[in-house]
Amino acid sequence: MSWPITDEQRMIRLMVREFARKEIEPVAAENDREGRFPTGILTKMAELGLMGMMVPARYGGAEVGAVSYSLALQEIAYACASTAVIMSVTNLSCEPLLLFGSEEQKEQWLPPLASGEGLGAFALTEPEAGSDPGGLRTQAVKGADGYRISGSKVFITNGAHAITFVLVARTSQEGGKKALSAFLIPRGAPGLDIGPEEEKMGLHASSTVPLTLEDCSVPLEHRIGQEGDGFRIAMAALDGGRIGIASQATGIGQACLDESVRYSKERKQFNRFLSSFQAISWMIADMATEVEAARLLTLQAASQKDLGQPFTRVASIAKLYASEMANRAAYSALQVHGGYGYTRHYKVERLYRDARVTTLYEGTSEVQRIVISREELRG
Ligand code: CAA
Repeated sequence: MSWPITDEQRMIRLMVREFARKEIEPVAAENDREGRFPTGILTKMAELGLMGMMVPARYGGAEVGAVSYSLALQEIAYACASTAVIMSVTNLSCEPLLLFGSEEQKEQWLPPLASGEGLGAFALTEPEAGSDPGGLRTQAVKGADGYRISGSKVFITNGAHAITFVLVARTSQEGGKKALSAFLIPRGAPGLDIGPEEEKMGLHASSTVPLTLEDCSVPLEHRIGQEGDGFRIAMAALDGGRIGIASQATGIGQACLDESVRYSKERKQFNRFLSSFQAISWMIADMATEVEAARLLTLQAASQKDLGQPFTRVASIAKLYASEMANRAAYSALQVHGGYGYTRHYKVERLYRDARVTTLYEGTSEVQRIVISREELRG
């Protein structure tokens, strides 16, 4: 890869690659099969500084920036996409605090996340509000000593394990999405109920649960930003989140490519290695081309974030391209493996299932096209 990354970024990538191949890869298939949350691995990742990579050092983070974060996440996803989404969503849950939190909020809530004392979750989606979070219904009613929040959230990554939830709720019945506000809700808050695990197609080692809030009491000082800022806060956080999912998808795509190369050089049909058939080698060429393009787009978005430049458009472009690439690569990798790829004996079966969600969460491909086309057509 010729992207001009710094020596420090190269070292971080190497360190995470070695860790992921040694500690995560050997247990990833079993964790997937058993639906086992990788608690021990996450503790080690926290010790390496991977849970708060963009959090400033004064709040306990690694403060290495979005490019390093993306490179690290690609390596984690290469070994285990479940572990990658746990890391990605914890980093996502830090963004609203980093961008809109008060100094007191940052000092209180960022260090436990950055140090890996616990995971973060981001509670935006509701049963009736997925691609259109502006239509969410969860209600936060203000009283003398704080808010009482009632409603339902679904598909909350890390939900069963998170110590803090960034949650968006409606603080007024009027004003549409301008009446949404963001809150920080600690685990164990009275009135917050964490539901059972979803039975998902993939990412079996990650946690995805619904939340129910019934008069959940939240002090005034747990509101992030001003009343009415909630939609903007969620969208700004998701800009960064989309770099995370693009990185995860790039890691999955690279794994599909490498598995295909390995298998095609081992497997013989018609007395020849699969790699010697043009039909197979061209699939590998297309995968390599698209993985490289996804990586460059993702690092471009991360680099613009690090430079403080606007990156909404390029983050959506990277997320759209990388997630669709990961699905194409998973399809081709399974095709290269033939019937064996359809069994759990080969990693591509897991990659195929894990790739599928990347075009859905943190904004579907259709939502990314809305964001990109609006930016292009703005005039
Ligand atoms: N940054 C800051 N502000 C932004 C913004 C951004 N990226 N995007 C929009 N805004 C602001 C706009 O400027 C606008 O402000 P004004 O009204 O003051 O002008 C306001 O927000 C409303 O913007 P839009 O009119 O563009 O909003 P919309 O209703 O048309 O929605 C959308 C646009 C792109 C479709 C958006 O709703 C969206 O991104 N939907 C997908 C939601 C999503 O990604 N959900 C994922 C859930 S989280 C998850 O999956 C995590 C996980 O667990 C893995």
